[in-house]
Amino acid sequence: MSKLPQIIETSRLKLRSPSLQDAPAIFEQYAQDKQVTKYMTWQPHQNVETTQKFVQRCIDALATKTDFYWVILPKKAKKAVGMIRLQHQNYHTSLGYVLARPYWNQGLMTEALQPLVGWAITQPDIYRVWAVCDCENLASARVLEKVGMTREGILRRWLIHPNLSDKPRDCFCYAKVK
Ligand SMILES: CC(C)(COP(=O)(O)OP(=O)(O)OC[C@H]1O[C@@H](n2cnc3c(N)ncnc32)[C@H](O)[C@@H]1OP(=O)(O)O)[C@@H](O)C(=O)NCCC(=O)NCCS
Repeated sequence: MSKLPQIIETSRLKLRSPSLQDAPAIFEQYAQDKQVTKYMTWQPHQNVETTQKFVQRCIDALATKTDFYWVILPKKAKKAVGMIRLQHQNYHTSLGYVLARPYWNQGLMTEALQPLVGWAITQPDIYRVWAVCDCENLASARVLEKVGMTREGILRRWLIHPNLSDKPRDCFCYAKVK
């Protein structure tokens, strides 16, 4: 497997490894936002200290060499407005992602994910790039379609999304395989 790119540039975005200095922007831009976190597996952050601890965990995770994070910065704004997580497990790679509300529906998450999906699927030892999303999270499902994944079905009772229910909910499973 070739080394994962630490910096990725697309026409409108820069993706780079997170740093603790990103915490205030992440908190203000989306981590405290109830609408953004609706379908996430975590609850909105109540204060920036929670975001700092979260960012530190993302930085620490890089040492595992299986769990990677990038912050998303619009070239125009130059502040963290979203994040992508990529996890390797055996010959699979999964993706998670989040973006601040003012940036929704402009094709930005599709643009951010495309190079990572492209990188992963061209690695000789990665056969499956995949993601799940709550069955009601139609914007997320659409993004996965736009990056070339196919809906494989529904993983019933797959994930708890605590901002909606304390019970596991059904999720769509999307993948691109070779
Ligand atoms: C999901 C999310 C990342 C999408 O990011 P984005 O930059 O807005 O995505 P894009 O603009 O690339 O694409 C969004 C697509 O969903 C569509 N869409 C948006 N809301 C929709 C809805 N309620 N129902 C159906 N489609 C919807 C858009 O029209 C667009 O499709 P199109 O290009 O065919 O018109 C963003 O909404 C987000 O961060 N949400 C909160 C966090 C989250 O849910 N993360 C995913 C967890 S699995």
